[in-house]
Amino acid sequence: MRHRTAILISGRGSNMLALISAAADPAFPAEIALVLSNRVSAPGLALAVKAGIPTAIIERNGATRECHEAAIDGILRRQEIAFVCLAGYMRVLSPFLVQRWERRMLNIHPSLLPAFPGLDTHARALAAGVKLHGCTVHLVSEELDDGPIIAQAAVPVLPDDTPETLATRVLTQEHRIYPLALRLVAGGSAAHPGADAALLNPLPTARPGS
Ligand code: GRF
Repeated sequence: MRHRTAILISGRGSNMLALISAAADPAFPAEIALVLSNRVSAPGLALAVKAGIPTAIIERNGATRECHEAAIDGILRRQEIAFVCLAGYMRVLSPFLVQRWERRMLNIHPSLLPAFPGLDTHARALAAGVKLHGCTVHLVSEELDDGPIIAQAAVPVLPDDTPETLATRVLTQEHRIYPLALRLVAGGSAAHPGADAALLNPLPTARPGS
């Protein structure tokens, strides 16, 4: 059984592509049935179309958050979606939508949660002087960047890193763990995420002299 899954984006869509690519395998427990953007200008939309995935755009356009989310919820239900993956979706969701999709909505965040929730995670990690940074896939809860952790990957912070170089290193791992996390959740292995969480450390090789 392949669970119909929607991906919500606002921008570039590289994590979306990683999920689409993983779900191209007929043995993957989720099929990507819809890509939904809240921005008509999101570059990821064209990538989804090119990949043959149905797309929808629901901009807020001055609507209340409740109306906007009711429209999103409506299309997800009409499309018989079972799981939702937030992938660079740049809106904070209200309890209304979070509760309706409880345990069926995932998010990827570019830090090792609970460290650095919110924005500008790479610059904040550098400013804090952490030596390990990374990314997290978690179930969405009412608190921002909170909720049961499904998968994490760690990368080293190198001495001459900039937010951009660090972001690139983390993004490579995002593309690896988001499909893994969706596979766990859609395949039923993450029914109790606390017990089944996968801690994935790619054991990256430090550069000579670092
Ligand atoms: C990723 O870094 C993700 O962790 C964060 O937003 C970024 C989206 O990138 N939530 P992309 O659109 O998937 O390329």
